[in-house]
Amino acid sequence: MNLAVNTDRLVAELNALAAISDCPEPPPAVTRIVFTPTDRRARDYLAGLYRAAGLAVRVDAIGNVFARWEGSDPSAAVVGTGSHCDALPHAGMYDGTVGVLGGLEAIRTLKAAGFKPRRSIELVMITSEEPTRFGLGCLGSRAMVGALGDVSRLIDDAGDSLEVVRQRAGFTGSLESTKLPPGYHHAWVELHIEQGPELEAKGLPIGVVTGIAAPLQAELTVHGEGGHAGAVLMPRRHDALNAAAEMIGAIERLATTSPSPDLVATVGRLDVHPGAANSIPSRVKFSLDLRDIDGANRDRVFASIEQELTVIANRRDVSWVKSINNADPPAPADPLVISAIESACQELGHAYQSMPSRAYHDSLFMARIAPMGMIFIPCRAGVSHRPDEYSSPEQLTVGVEVLAQTLANLSA
Ligand code: GLV
Ligand code: MN
Ligand code: MN
Repeated sequence: MNLAVNTDRLVAELNALAAISDCPEPPPAVTRIVFTPTDRRARDYLAGLYRAAGLAVRVDAIGNVFARWEGSDPSAAVVGTGSHCDALPHAGMYDGTVGVLGGLEAIRTLKAAGFKPRRSIELVMITSEEPTRFGLGCLGSRAMVGALGDVSRLIDDAGDSLEVVRQRAGFTGSLESTKLPPGYHHAWVELHIEQGPELEAKGLPIGVVTGIAAPLQAELTVHGEGGHAGAVLMPRRHDALNAAAEMIGAIERLATTSPSPDLVATVGRLDVHPGAANSIPSRVKFSLDLRDIDGANRDRVFASIEQELTVIANRRDVSWVKSINNADPPAPADPLVISAIESACQELGHAYQSMPSRAYHDSLFMARIAPMGMIFIPCRAGVSHRPDEYSSPEQLTVGVEVLAQTLANLSA
């Protein structure tokens, strides 16, 4: 099969999508938060491209957009691919979008090569992989696999619930209806940038993902005692921010000394109340993002963090509470999909290595209902979640070729 990827078209579409952004800076800086008017415009842009490619479009109640290329056996379990197009504040233009527009380009490439799938191939643009708005990532994929849980806890910074916001954005119907039936997929494969430095450092064009690390996301709140910044002498203070600062230092130390080198801990958000220069902080809320390829080690480190926070809080006479948004187990990739990707690389003559995914992806959840695999391409200096995130046209092309051949292998 002659796979002639139209790289110029793909790059032009990535640029056009990047221009649909709420970031105050121009592309490649991108901000695209779920269910905003900008997110709606991005969805409309993608749906137009899907229809132009001859794909049948359907949108579910949480806004997952499915684009289907019907196979010669429409009743056979489908081969799914896709990723997300939301972008966290001040992000780059390749995270997620490469799996969506690259997935579309893979389908167009297969069509142009005269390939006729037996199983239908379905491309999905999955709603809100990033946790930006509701504090929980992978909303669309969790919904598809029935793992969204109680949605009443999902409230944005404006105090609006997911239910209200999604319906206001035009996505109605019961969330229950988004769940895919058992056996729906024969296989699921996601193309994504690596978001780490390994492939580039080794000069390899493809990573074949063996499994996805286990993420835990929590909000921790420290309650101290506020007061006048001039009048309350230091021995009488119970400053919530100073306590939080010590706690954050302890989190870094526990993560750095963890037995697993893959464990990472990030505190990326800090809300200080009342947030005035001449007022002692009485309440501090901070986020914790904790991950490891070894899920049990992640849980042990979280338990040590909890112990340490209690020690610090007791010494400073403040209190703390946790609210866990999610604590998901890791997901191994399936040998069926791994071998389809490896065969594709061999058929096309592209070198590859096996590697874990330290970032999480919608595929973490798709693995609960489908044999799952992921294809990584390098990104410059391993940089991601930043505007200077970059994969070259050549790297994109190889990724799309491997995805196209993998889809062909799985759908035959
Ligand atoms: C996904 O964006 C992640 O934070 O791993
Ligand atoms: Mn991301
Ligand atoms: Mn992503």
